[in-house]
Amino acid sequence: MAKDLSPVEKAKFVAAKQASRMIEDGMRVGLGTGSTAEWLVRCIGEMVRDEGLAIRAVPTSRRTADLARELGIEVVTLEEAGWLDLTIDGADEVDGALNLIKGGGAALLHEKIVATASDRMVVIADATKRVETLGAFPLPVEIIPFGWQATKVLVEETLVGLDVLGREVELRMKDGEAVRTDEGNHILDLHLNRIGNARQLGLALNQIAGVVENGLFVDICDALVIGHGDGRVESY
Ligand code: 5RP
Repeated sequence: MAKDLSPVEKAKFVAAKQASRMIEDGMRVGLGTGSTAEWLVRCIGEMVRDEGLAIRAVPTSRRTADLARELGIEVVTLEEAGWLDLTIDGADEVDGALNLIKGGGAALLHEKIVATASDRMVVIADATKRVETLGAFPLPVEIIPFGWQATKVLVEETLVGLDVLGREVELRMKDGEAVRTDEGNHILDLHLNRIGNARQLGLALNQIAGVVENGLFVDICDALVIGHGDGRVESY
């Protein structure tokens, strides 16, 4: 599965492989979204096929659900699972306190719901995702399409006076159209460069009418597995 990988793909694979060993028979497991989470789903698929691992999985996006089903993993809804033992997901940035920026793949809403409905959330990432301070990666914010321009103005106004370095806000586009999340919403990307107080910013953003959820995960992640291009893995 992992032959001839570039260093960054190898780093993602080894992190995913290591985290997959935390999964035990009978567990209800949240599956993240993105290229690192895809490696995890492939590792789990192998465990199901070769070792008879039996889990019930709750995916955080349609694309993760499609891949999991294709690989023979039992997929259930969060309602059916009720609660999860473990969620394993990627991240766009992770700081020393295990606070995260997520949502580069536009799945932050389901990712946050699934992670917070789990006993434990483990993040898997290549070493480039580790940062001293969050904010170099643009912060995704999921918003309702109705009145999105007004929501954008309110987000820009909210950033004034908060501990951030940049304040540019843009609607995420793909192929000339505003991106739609699995819930049919849009994404604003906030170019903040440096986030001084992630908890304060997250709370302020979620008070704005039209904002559904933001991509700051504060005090949600319990453990971090970092992969390196030479195959080394570090756990925190
Ligand atoms: C999707 C996410 C992903 O976890 C994040 O974008 C990292 O993706 P990748 O593993 O491809 O770097 O938050 O919404």
